[in-house]
Amino acid sequence: MTDSNTRAAVITMLDARLADSIDLALITKQAHWTVKGPQFIAIHEMLDALRGAVDAYVDTLAERVSTLGGTPHGTVQAVAQRTGLPPYPTDISAIPDHLRALVSRVAAASEAMRRDIDSAANAGDAATADVFTEVTRGLDKWRWFLESHLQG
Ligand SMILES: [Fe+2]
Repeated sequence: MTDSNTRAAVITMLDARLADSIDLALITKQAHWTVKGPQFIAIHEMLDALRGAVDAYVDTLAERVSTLGGTPHGTVQAVAQRTGLPPYPTDISAIPDHLRALVSRVAAASEAMRRDIDSAANAGDAATADVFTEVTRGLDKWRWFLESHLQG
Protein backbone atom coordinates (compact mmCIF):
# COMPACT_ATOMS: atom_id res chain seq x y z
CA MET A 1 0.00 0.00 0.00
CA THR A 2 1.15 3.51 -0.78
CA ASP A 3 2.47 6.05 1.77
CA SER A 4 0.17 8.60 3.40
CA ASN A 5 1.17 11.58 1.21
CA THR A 6 0.55 9.57 -1.93
CA ARG A 7 -2.72 8.28 -0.54
CA ALA A 8 -3.96 11.79 0.27
CA ALA A 9 -3.04 13.02 -3.22
CA VAL A 10 -4.75 10.20 -5.10
CA ILE A 11 -7.83 10.24 -2.83
CA THR A 12 -8.36 13.88 -3.87
CA MET A 13 -8.06 12.91 -7.54
CA LEU A 14 -10.37 9.91 -7.17
CA ASP A 15 -13.02 11.94 -5.36
CA ALA A 16 -12.95 14.63 -8.07
CA ARG A 17 -13.31 12.05 -10.83
CA LEU A 18 -16.08 10.40 -8.78
CA ALA A 19 -18.04 13.69 -8.85
CA ASP A 20 -17.63 13.94 -12.64
CA SER A 21 -18.74 10.34 -13.03
CA ILE A 22 -21.85 10.64 -10.84
CA ASP A 23 -22.77 13.79 -12.78
CA LEU A 24 -22.32 11.80 -16.00
CA ALA A 25 -24.54 9.01 -14.65
CA LEU A 26 -27.30 11.49 -13.78
CA ILE A 27 -27.26 13.32 -17.11
CA THR A 28 -27.28 10.03 -19.01
CA LYS A 29 -30.71 9.29 -17.53
CA GLN A 30 -31.81 12.90 -18.15
CA ALA A 31 -31.08 12.29 -21.84
CA HIS A 32 -32.64 8.79 -21.74
CA TRP A 33 -35.89 10.28 -20.42
CA THR A 34 -36.15 13.35 -22.65
CA VAL A 35 -34.66 12.40 -26.02
CA LYS A 36 -36.99 12.40 -29.02
CA GLY A 37 -36.43 11.63 -32.67
CA PRO A 38 -36.50 9.05 -35.46
CA GLN A 39 -33.92 6.72 -33.86
CA PHE A 40 -35.58 7.05 -30.45
CA ILE A 41 -35.46 3.45 -29.30
CA ALA A 42 -31.83 2.92 -30.36
CA ILE A 43 -30.66 6.03 -28.52
CA HIS A 44 -32.96 5.48 -25.52
CA GLU A 45 -31.62 1.95 -25.04
CA MET A 46 -27.99 2.90 -25.74
CA LEU A 47 -28.24 5.49 -22.97
CA ASP A 48 -29.37 2.84 -20.50
CA ALA A 49 -26.29 0.82 -21.41
CA LEU A 50 -24.14 3.93 -20.96
CA ARG A 51 -25.69 4.48 -17.53
CA GLY A 52 -24.87 0.90 -16.56
CA ALA A 53 -21.25 1.35 -17.61
CA VAL A 54 -20.90 4.67 -15.80
CA ASP A 55 -22.45 3.21 -12.62
CA ALA A 56 -19.68 0.60 -12.66
CA TYR A 57 -17.01 3.35 -13.01
CA VAL A 58 -18.62 5.24 -10.12
CA ASP A 59 -18.45 2.19 -7.89
CA THR A 60 -14.83 1.44 -8.83
CA LEU A 61 -13.72 5.02 -8.10
CA ALA A 62 -15.63 5.30 -4.80
CA GLU A 63 -14.40 1.92 -3.54
CA ARG A 64 -10.82 2.84 -4.41
CA VAL A 65 -11.22 5.93 -2.18
CA SER A 66 -12.46 3.72 0.66
CA THR A 67 -9.73 1.16 0.03
CA LEU A 68 -7.15 3.93 0.53
CA GLY A 69 -8.77 5.05 3.79
CA GLY A 70 -10.60 8.09 2.39
CA THR A 71 -14.24 9.10 2.31
CA PRO A 72 -15.97 9.18 -1.09
CA HIS A 73 -18.35 12.13 -1.48
CA GLY A 74 -21.28 10.73 -3.44
CA THR A 75 -24.20 12.86 -2.26
CA VAL A 76 -25.92 15.10 -4.75
CA GLN A 77 -24.84 18.17 -2.75
CA ALA A 78 -21.18 17.16 -2.84
CA VAL A 79 -21.36 16.26 -6.51
CA ALA A 80 -22.99 19.59 -7.39
CA GLN A 81 -20.08 21.40 -5.72
CA ARG A 82 -17.29 19.22 -7.10
CA THR A 83 -18.23 18.21 -10.64
CA GLY A 84 -16.05 19.56 -13.41
CA LEU A 85 -18.72 19.05 -16.06
CA PRO A 86 -20.79 21.96 -17.36
CA PRO A 87 -24.49 21.97 -16.36
CA TYR A 88 -26.60 19.75 -18.61
CA PRO A 89 -29.38 21.52 -20.53
CA THR A 90 -32.91 20.52 -19.52
CA ASP A 91 -34.60 22.27 -22.46
CA ILE A 92 -33.37 20.01 -25.30
CA SER A 93 -35.00 16.93 -26.83
CA ALA A 94 -33.67 16.40 -30.37
CA ILE A 95 -31.33 13.43 -30.71
CA PRO A 96 -28.39 15.43 -32.18
CA ASP A 97 -28.68 18.03 -29.41
CA HIS A 98 -28.53 15.35 -26.71
CA LEU A 99 -25.71 13.49 -28.45
CA ARG A 100 -23.59 16.63 -28.78
CA ALA A 101 -24.29 17.60 -25.16
CA LEU A 102 -23.33 14.11 -23.99
CA VAL A 103 -20.21 13.88 -26.19
CA SER A 104 -18.85 17.13 -24.77
CA ARG A 105 -19.38 15.94 -21.20
CA VAL A 106 -18.00 12.44 -21.78
CA ALA A 107 -14.99 14.14 -23.39
CA ALA A 108 -14.55 16.47 -20.40
CA ALA A 109 -14.78 13.57 -17.94
CA SER A 110 -12.41 11.49 -20.05
CA GLU A 111 -9.78 14.24 -20.43
CA ALA A 112 -9.75 14.93 -16.68
CA MET A 113 -9.46 11.18 -16.05
CA ARG A 114 -6.62 10.89 -18.60
CA ARG A 115 -4.67 13.70 -16.86
CA ASP A 116 -5.04 11.88 -13.54
CA ILE A 117 -3.55 8.67 -15.00
CA ASP A 118 -0.23 10.51 -15.15
CA SER A 119 -0.82 12.41 -11.91
CA ALA A 120 -1.49 9.19 -9.98
CA ALA A 121 1.51 7.47 -11.57
CA ASN A 122 3.75 10.45 -10.75
CA ALA A 123 2.44 10.43 -7.16
CA GLY A 124 3.59 6.80 -6.94
CA ASP A 125 0.30 4.90 -7.09
CA ALA A 126 0.33 2.70 -10.18
CA ALA A 127 -2.79 0.84 -9.01
CA THR A 128 -4.90 4.03 -8.94
CA ALA A 129 -3.38 5.05 -12.28
CA ASP A 130 -4.66 1.69 -13.56
CA VAL A 131 -8.18 2.50 -12.29
CA PHE A 132 -8.07 5.82 -14.15
CA THR A 133 -6.75 4.04 -17.25
CA GLU A 134 -9.59 1.52 -17.18
CA VAL A 135 -12.26 4.21 -16.81
CA THR A 136 -10.66 6.42 -19.48
CA ARG A 137 -10.63 3.51 -21.91
CA GLY A 138 -14.33 2.92 -21.20
CA LEU A 139 -15.25 6.59 -21.64
CA ASP A 140 -13.32 6.71 -24.92
CA LYS A 141 -15.41 3.80 -26.19
CA TRP A 142 -18.65 5.50 -25.19
CA ARG A 143 -17.56 8.72 -26.86
CA TRP A 144 -17.10 6.71 -30.05
CA PHE A 145 -20.57 5.13 -29.66
CA LEU A 146 -22.20 8.54 -29.14
CA GLU A 147 -20.27 10.24 -31.96
CA SER A 148 -21.07 7.42 -34.39
CA HIS A 149 -24.76 8.39 -34.20
CA LEU A 150 -23.86 11.93 -35.29
CA GLN A 151 -21.94 10.86 -38.41
CA GLY A 152 -23.10 9.88 -41.89
FE1 LIG B 1 -35.78 3.67 -18.77
